[in-house]
Amino acid sequence: MANFTEISSKYENDSIVQKSASEILFDLLDIQTSDDVLDIGCGTGHLTKIIRDKTNGKVVGIDPSKGMIEKAKEKYANHGIVFRNCSAEELDYQNEFNKIFCNSSFQWFKDHRKALKACHNALKQNGKIAIQAPAKEIYCPNFIEAINAVRINESTRTVFEFFTPPWLFLNTSDEYSALFQETGFKVERSWIDEAVTYHSSEEAYKIFESGAAAGYLNQDYYSVSISQEYIEEFRKVVRNSFDEQAGETGKVKLVFYRIYLLAIKE
Ligand SMILES: C[S@@+](CC[C@H](N)C(=O)[O-])C[C@H]1O[C@@H](n2cnc3c(N)ncnc32)[C@H](O)[C@@H]1O
Repeated sequence: MANFTEISSKYENDSIVQKSASEILFDLLDIQTSDDVLDIGCGTGHLTKIIRDKTNGKVVGIDPSKGMIEKAKEKYANHGIVFRNCSAEELDYQNEFNKIFCNSSFQWFKDHRKALKACHNALKQNGKIAIQAPAKEIYCPNFIEAINAVRINESTRTVFEFFTPPWLFLNTSDEYSALFQETGFKVERSWIDEAVTYHSSEEAYKIFESGAAAGYLNQDYYSVSISQEYIEEFRKVVRNSFDEQAGETGKVKLVFYRIYLLAIKE
């Protein structure tokens, strides 16, 4: 199986696309040295540590995956960061933070309105939230191509029919803005970016395993039980697809659509 607890030991090394996208998010949120900052869906905490280095204020990281939070605590809790094992929907803060940072986690929320209301409560007046997340139904055409191979492959197609995607992917920045406006935020900036990078087939596979696999290979999102054999076949089909996509050049041209959004609690 693959869920965030299972992949937590490799996450910090393999999450290269999440990390490069976070650089734009850091510029957008513009953390000041006295800001109290909440990192939502902090994973193994390596980006929370970057937040820590930017401010002398309070820094809190939250994540519902026990494995991710344990890794974060092991490595970074003694740097003056509080880590909590809870989801965005469960947040209970009132007027406590100047900034909320949310990188590559928003698509995983189960109830976006509830989570955004909790974020609104957690922020002080004039506090800001910035999110970055994969966007559009075709969020990564390379992954979609690999999944289409899974959908038709003899060894995976019967079980894959029982998969229901857990993610929220909206097609326009206006749709993302509307979600934030509904929960009381004023959206200051919002755009969908197309990022193109080149990777070996093996690297593309690691990128897939660092996020998407936690959905596609997670028992929670299948209505039939999935076997180890299915998981292995699935991984084989995805690897083959990336090999094919790399072709003679040996490089996969990896395309990711990402929403970047900055909103304020007025
Ligand atoms: C791809 S990782 C991103 C981790 C880190 N922010 C980064 O950019 O490297 C996605 C994280 O979202 C977390 N997540 C899933 N559902 C969530 C929810 N409802 N609220 C907050 N975080 C959630 C997962 O447990 C996982 O650690």
